[in-house]
Amino acid sequence: MKFFLDTADVTAIKKINALGLVDGVTTNPTIIAKEGRVFEEVIKEICSIVDGPVSAEVTSLEADGMVAEAKEIVQWAENIVIKIPMTEEGLKATNELSKLGIKTNVTLIFSVAQGLLAAKAGATFISPFLGRLDDTGTSGIELVAKLREVLDTYGFSTEIIAASVRISEHVEKASLVGAHIATVPPSLYQTLWSHPLTDKGIAQFMADWESFQGGNK
Ligand code: G3P
Repeated sequence: MKFFLDTADVTAIKKINALGLVDGVTTNPTIIAKEGRVFEEVIKEICSIVDGPVSAEVTSLEADGMVAEAKEIVQWAENIVIKIPMTEEGLKATNELSKLGIKTNVTLIFSVAQGLLAAKAGATFISPFLGRLDDTGTSGIELVAKLREVLDTYGFSTEIIAASVRISEHVEKASLVGAHIATVPPSLYQTLWSHPLTDKGIAQFMADWESFQGGNK
């Protein structure tokens, strides 16, 4: 399973990338706006830090505009993926971009039908939003499981990015039901690698080692 970071905070990206566990980065207009930096500048910087795919989202709502934006954005770096909203126009743009060999991440997926159509349109990635779906009382994880089943049944090469990940359980369950990727906000990263019993175990080992050393003196 691959891990992406869902952020445009380059300080956080550098820090977590140093662990060797960052396979890519996803952004959206909200995430970019939070940084208060020029879109092109921040995407270029992220692409220079991370080797894997970096999703940058278009803001046009018409297919022609999306394609025009995509053609410009992909020139910023070699590892850019164009994030496209899941709309009728978005599907049209995804289809065109796929024919041009431009990678896409179709975002804001909330149903199997949406995921299936995006895959048929040639999406490289599809992003079901777990947390936002959970908020409505429908299981985001179940959607991921069904999407994986559909992709496998028909042999699509499209990969599922579990997005809108808010708790470590989302990552764990997404891995169990076959999400290819989880995109994780930096604030959640520590909850993935840490556990209170690990800390307690280390403290105990250190204390025992110290008294053993003492006995050897
Ligand atoms: O990956 C999508 C993400 O950025 C949206 O997350 O928490 O705003 O639903 P959230």
